[in-house]
Amino acid sequence: MCGIIGYIGNREKKEILLDGLKELEYRGYDSAGISILSNNELFTFKTTGKLINLETKCKDFTSNGFGIAIGHTRWATHGKATEINAHPHSSEESSIVHNGIIENYLEIKNELENKGWTFLSQTDTEVIVHLFEENLKSVENPLSAFKKTIDRLNGSYAILLITKKAPDRIFYAKNGSPLLIGINGDEVFFASSSTPLIGLVKEVCYLEDGDNGYINKDNFKTLKNVQPMNGEKISSQKDGYRYFMEKEIYEQHRILQDTIRGRILNDGISLELPSNFIDNINRITICACGTSYHAGLSAKYLFEREAKIKTNVIIASEFRYSNPIMEKDELFIVISQSGETADTLEALKLANKNNLKTLAICNVENSSIVREAKYSLLTRAGIEKGVASTKAFSSQVMLLWILGIYIAQNKNNISKDSIQKQIKNMYNSLKATKVNTKIHDRLKKLSKRYLHGHGFFFIGRDVFYPLALEGALKLKEISYLHAEGYPGGEMKHGPIALADSELFCVSLMPKHLLYEKIKNNTEELSTRDATICVISQECSDVADDVVLIDKYESYMEEFFAMMIVVQILALEIAIRLGNDVDMPRNLAKSVTVE
Ligand code: M6R
Repeated sequence: MCGIIGYIGNREKKEILLDGLKELEYRGYDSAGISILSNNELFTFKTTGKLINLETKCKDFTSNGFGIAIGHTRWATHGKATEINAHPHSSEESSIVHNGIIENYLEIKNELENKGWTFLSQTDTEVIVHLFEENLKSVENPLSAFKKTIDRLNGSYAILLITKKAPDRIFYAKNGSPLLIGINGDEVFFASSSTPLIGLVKEVCYLEDGDNGYINKDNFKTLKNVQPMNGEKISSQKDGYRYFMEKEIYEQHRILQDTIRGRILNDGISLELPSNFIDNINRITICACGTSYHAGLSAKYLFEREAKIKTNVIIASEFRYSNPIMEKDELFIVISQSGETADTLEALKLANKNNLKTLAICNVENSSIVREAKYSLLTRAGIEKGVASTKAFSSQVMLLWILGIYIAQNKNNISKDSIQKQIKNMYNSLKATKVNTKIHDRLKKLSKRYLHGHGFFFIGRDVFYPLALEGALKLKEISYLHAEGYPGGEMKHGPIALADSELFCVSLMPKHLLYEKIKNNTEELSTRDATICVISQECSDVADDVVLIDKYESYMEEFFAMMIVVQILALEIAIRLGNDVDMPRNLAKSVTVE
């Protein structure tokens, strides 16, 4: 989704902006631009498409000496992905970049048009820069004009504005969209996430909603809540893999060791939570979006079965506006890879407002969701670059499983023997995520038979139902083929009407959970001539194709082994179709607008 970079200092500003935007590239965008104010001249460059286009456009431009600069990658919301709609947006003497959505922009636009302002773009953002210049006419200084402008905006925003009227400073405002200020000596950086700042700054300040003002070389020392910048520069290398997604699939067995480190002990489960964490909790609500929602659905089965605690799972965008009933004895869990998903963040704020005990399961330390939640557990998957989530999902499911056993243990709902059995299954599940290259080769060959047809159904039962949803999501995200996940038993209640030889059905058939039931459901589809691809450790005579996984002793091991298969199947089909696996069309890595 949209990304922001800003810089105040003496270095070559173009390079700083382009390098920063490259670090944000994996998040998804469709156009980009930069504005640099140096020697009282304002230079703006914008292009559609990839950053290389922007680099080419400004290749002959240099800016020596002190200056201020802002840059942006745009994921279109208001107005198509055109050069004119790309940020920065400029008025006569000022330029602005913005993440988020200004909900009352049409009202402001009408007022400004009546006062003679002309708009070039179809964006909500352009109103901000013209409103700022309009306000400059009636107030004594740029800061007052900026504050007056911000006061007028409804919606979510992270904003940077530069103006010839104050060429030594960057004005900023944050509400609902993340924005950070990084400091290195007397240089100041801004970014919409920490990734571009790692390695560049020593200290960072995570702005809070409602923060606005300006920063220049003199006042940044007065910033509050400045903390050391943690984190190592992530490898931008694919390490021989064709795509980051492929690398991340192969990494899973290694990162899961980090997920469980210090949490699975010889005599039970230990988590970084207070000992009374689960006291007075009698029910759980899990709220998330996309893949994280699927991880949450798997947790429902595990929590209810193992910890015997009632669990409700809801998509965050549905939760927010449904007037949800929140009970005092409820634990509210949000799950998010990025920690910045707007719908999940807002749901969390609502739960906090209602005084629920809130817990974030998240991959990004210091993200908005981690900072908002009362408690948090990190999944420790490392930065995920592929837009289609893989290792984030496995680490979420593993951590939620651990949490389920932790709850069972602390509520005395589980015997010591059963805990030991679960721990053994967890270790074995971790091993099950190591990619078997023979299975990968088989999927590579098999993928050529699944490039057409009128759709895919992924079916599974119990925890394999959320895995079916996740398999279908992976496939549609990167192959652009229509795919749906369904509970196996539900097909005959409608979807089976679609069955014919051009309907592909990927059936998840675990030996250790409801095998006969899902086999029957698969047979029902086979009888109606659907093309069946079975994933199982057992051979199957109802299948057109069988992807045999290794032999496992528990259903969760089968879950993780099948997860690898559905991820690779999606990857290989998308590669054969010639798609950009890491940056699929229309998608953004981190969805910071609702
Ligand atoms: O960062 P989050 O986990 O909160 O993101 C939620 C979804 O946007 C995300 O899982 C999305 O569905 C992925 N593209 C799935 O591959």
